[in-house]
Amino acid sequence: MKLVKKGAEADIYLTSWNGHDSILKIRKKKDYRVDLLDTRIRTLRTMREAKMISETKSFGITTPLVYFVDEKKCEIYLQFVPGKLVKDLSAKQIVTICKDMGKIVGILHKNGVMHGDLTTSNFILSRQGLVILDFGLSQKTDQIDDHAIDLRLFKEVLNSAHAQIVDKSWASFILGYRKILGSLLTDKVLNQVLVIEKRGRYANVI
Ligand SMILES: Nc1ncnc2c1ncn2[C@@H]1O[C@H](COP(=O)(O)OP(=O)(O)O)[C@@H](O)[C@H]1O
Ligand SMILES: [Mg+2]
Repeated sequence: MKLVKKGAEADIYLTSWNGHDSILKIRKKKDYRVDLLDTRIRTLRTMREAKMISETKSFGITTPLVYFVDEKKCEIYLQFVPGKLVKDLSAKQIVTICKDMGKIVGILHKNGVMHGDLTTSNFILSRQGLVILDFGLSQKTDQIDDHAIDLRLFKEVLNSAHAQIVDKSWASFILGYRKILGSLLTDKVLNQVLVIEKRGRYANVI
């Protein structure tokens, strides 16, 4: 088993499952959390991730197959998706692919799912197209405010990780998002993003 990533939330290994290349995601115990709460959080996120990865396929987006879930151990075996993380693409490619990311996020929101962790490390460009990962923080919600929180986070990620192309890639993302949700809803969500940004600014002043 090869360690791919030691994350704040989970460790990721490359392994195999019934002869298929597989990603094993293990949510390990956090010593700073009380035992009962820690177990609850890890179990909830593991089960939620497995459920959402499978459910969202029915919307017509591509997510890895879930091979196996061990609820007790808080482990998920996922189909390994070969490809490149969007984060590691060239600036030009990122700008272009942002439109497809916007479409995927639009489809999630249209179907009442907030992803909760929209970053350029949670999308893989594979031969079958763009694949979205990491549903541990996702929520079922139709609230404009929740959808705006998703977009706001993504904008922040562009701002910090892809600063030179933030304007172009944000515009491209919104173009894709608008294609799915239409102008009325998109403008509502974008207005809410502005409200959140203002809130943030005032919070900093105080
Ligand atoms: N199914 C998969 N196929 C290929 N790589 C994956 C897969 N799942 C995760 N990874 C890799 O592991 C990294 C972390 O996985 P992720 O599910 O996003 O966990 P984290 O909560 O630590 O961000 C991803 O950014 C990607 O590089
Ligand atoms: Mg991730």
